[in-house]
Amino acid sequence: MRNDFLPFALPDLDGSELAQIKEALEAAWVTTGPKVKAFEEEFARAVGAKHAVAVNSCTAAMHLALEAAGLKAGDEVITTPYTFAATAEVVRYFDAKPVFVDVDPRCLNLNYNLLEHAVTPRTKAIIPVHLGGLPAEMDAVRKVADSHGLKVIEDAAHAFPAEYKGRKVGSLSEFTCFSFYATKPITTGEGGMVVTDNEAWAERCRVMSLHGISHDAWKRYNQEGSWQYEIVAPGFKYNMTDVAAGMGLAQLAKAERMWERRKEIAKRYTGAFKAVPELEIPQDREDCRHAWHLYLLRLNLDRLTKDRARFIEELKARNIGTSVHFIPLHLHPYYRETYGYKPGDFPMAYREYLRVVSLPIYSRMSDRDVQDVIEAVLDVVHKSRK
Ligand SMILES: Cc1ncc(COP(=O)(O)O)c(C=O)c1O
Repeated sequence: MRNDFLPFALPDLDGSELAQIKEALEAAWVTTGPKVKAFEEEFARAVGAKHAVAVNSCTAAMHLALEAAGLKAGDEVITTPYTFAATAEVVRYFDAKPVFVDVDPRCLNLNYNLLEHAVTPRTKAIIPVHLGGLPAEMDAVRKVADSHGLKVIEDAAHAFPAEYKGRKVGSLSEFTCFSFYATKPITTGEGGMVVTDNEAWAERCRVMSLHGISHDAWKRYNQEGSWQYEIVAPGFKYNMTDVAAGMGLAQLAKAERMWERRKEIAKRYTGAFKAVPELEIPQDREDCRHAWHLYLLRLNLDRLTKDRARFIEELKARNIGTSVHFIPLHLHPYYRETYGYKPGDFPMAYREYLRVVSLPIYSRMSDRDVQDVIEAVLDVVHKSRK
């Protein structure tokens, strides 16, 4: 057993982030400025989108996308319950309704066969979530969206760098939103990006990200700028700082290397677990590029004497950090009380949640770390066989 605790997630940081941050500090431009602009341009290129607006979270990015899409009170937005709080809470910001459709148990992304049934005259948008970094079935989502005039806003918090049938996640839909939270595939500490090919929507997101002011502070305070500004709508305060963007530029430069390493770790886990009947390995697809943000291992509970909570405790006792993605939204008090949901309303989300464990998968893990995780998982399985 390893001596020290292996955290579930750690960012891959080195001198390159420090150098970027130092530059921002030395330039004395710490809020939104030239580094944000450079990060937006490079990120847009990396995901094959025309425009990118950097913000301080993926939650903010999704809020801005829904605002630019014209969401209003009483509208409905279809999404999955198998996601983080942010995906549905942004819909509630508008007093609109998140309408959940159950997941496909193979990939844990929304079950596209159920989409059509969830559409009503009030539906305005679909938010697919690429859980763990495996793209949702976007052709099917597009088909339903087009046949009902709905906008698609991808929650790609886990999905960089990912591809769906040879196309980059970021180039597929009206809007795509990314997260640069501490544990995400690239990080700025806190941060996010909304990308779109539509110039007017990008401009709306940009304006609303900074108080609905039609000029950003960068323009206001540099030489060509002026003191003049106009408030065109009651906006938000979501802009990214140059300090964060500097970190983002450094992370972006090594995103492929970090992804290669996560892919390698996933391959090693899959190789070790695929023939173990007590375990189910996560789905991958030949026609997609999985971002491998998460490695979602599932337990075949009928073959084990321990439940998932106990399994996690056992791994912790072996110094391995894990997590659970996610407690489906319909199980939480707010959604239960507001919409009267019961666990069985989305039976696949509920069933799969009970047996899922996320294993550590990040580029800083050494081969020894990976081996320690494998050995610990196999040891717990061995000691919990029925
Ligand atoms: C699926 C999903 N969507 C959205 C978010 C929100 O991202 P952020 O923390 O950048 O707002 C997260 C964060 O964990 C997430 O996992």
